[in-house]
Amino acid sequence: MEIFSRQICRDELKIVHSDDPDPLRAGLGMVCFPLMKRALANGKNMLWWWMGLAEQAAIVFILDQLRPKIAIEIGTLFGGSLQALSKYSDQVYSIDIDPEVPKVIGNLFANVRYLTGNSDYLLPPLIDDLQQNGAELAFALVDGDHSANGVRKDINHLLRFRPTVPFYILMHDSFNPECRAGIRAADWENNPYVQAVELDFVPGVVNPVPAFRNQLWGGLALAILTPEKRIGRFAITGLAELTFQIASRAVQPTLPQRVIRKGLALPRRAIRRLQN
Ligand SMILES: C[S@@+](CC[C@H](N)C(=O)[O-])C[C@H]1O[C@@H](n2cnc3c(N)ncnc32)[C@H](O)[C@@H]1O
Repeated sequence: MEIFSRQICRDELKIVHSDDPDPLRAGLGMVCFPLMKRALANGKNMLWWWMGLAEQAAIVFILDQLRPKIAIEIGTLFGGSLQALSKYSDQVYSIDIDPEVPKVIGNLFANVRYLTGNSDYLLPPLIDDLQQNGAELAFALVDGDHSANGVRKDINHLLRFRPTVPFYILMHDSFNPECRAGIRAADWENNPYVQAVELDFVPGVVNPVPAFRNQLWGGLALAILTPEKRIGRFAITGLAELTFQIASRAVQPTLPQRVIRKGLALPRRAIRRLQN
């Protein structure tokens, strides 16, 4: 439970400065602000989101406008984004591979069904079941497996659902090279119900926290599907594509750094081989 208590935002307004001892948070700046707490926690403690404030605000705005009858979340963790999905949706299916997740969150959200396991296996039967029942699936958040292949597969499973109402898919960490590649590789174009895909609905950042310093993370991609087929042109767009490319080049290790890293990796690999 100690780890869970660290995942709660008790203050109305919280700033995490760069000299904070927490390597996962130092330098994040403003991490909680009063309006979000008012919207979601109603005077109680807010669960910690693994997302920036603009991403939180974007999710809350979309959910508030959509008021989904059915929503899916891939990647529950400590329930940060789930508290928003639960508040604005009638029924939420939240998937996480970690069996501790539902135990830790407990009975905080009455309208959430937790599905434990790999989303690659859990999504197909869930999508089939929703489709057969004519469910009004209006929202999905992709924030589970962050490998390019994992992201691509999660999206492709969601794309098997033929929309019954406007269906909004948000994909977190669209600024991360792996996730961005996975989003790009998904089968959007062949799906006639996909109207638009914007990679940088909220652009990401070069991460300032010590544990992920100089890595590209964050960002929300948005896809919009409708029950009507698309008319006309389709192309994935990315407002921050140039920023992404420039940042990717800037954070790439220099040649001497790569040589040193390779040099250090060789003896490590040799030791591992001797140990096995
Ligand atoms: C970044 S966290 C989710 C954060 C959460 N959406 C939030 O904003 O607070 C990613 C979660 O995805 C889960 N995960 C990773 N790979 C997965 C997979 N293949 N299937 C289901 N869940 C997975 C992890 O266990 C982790 O809890």
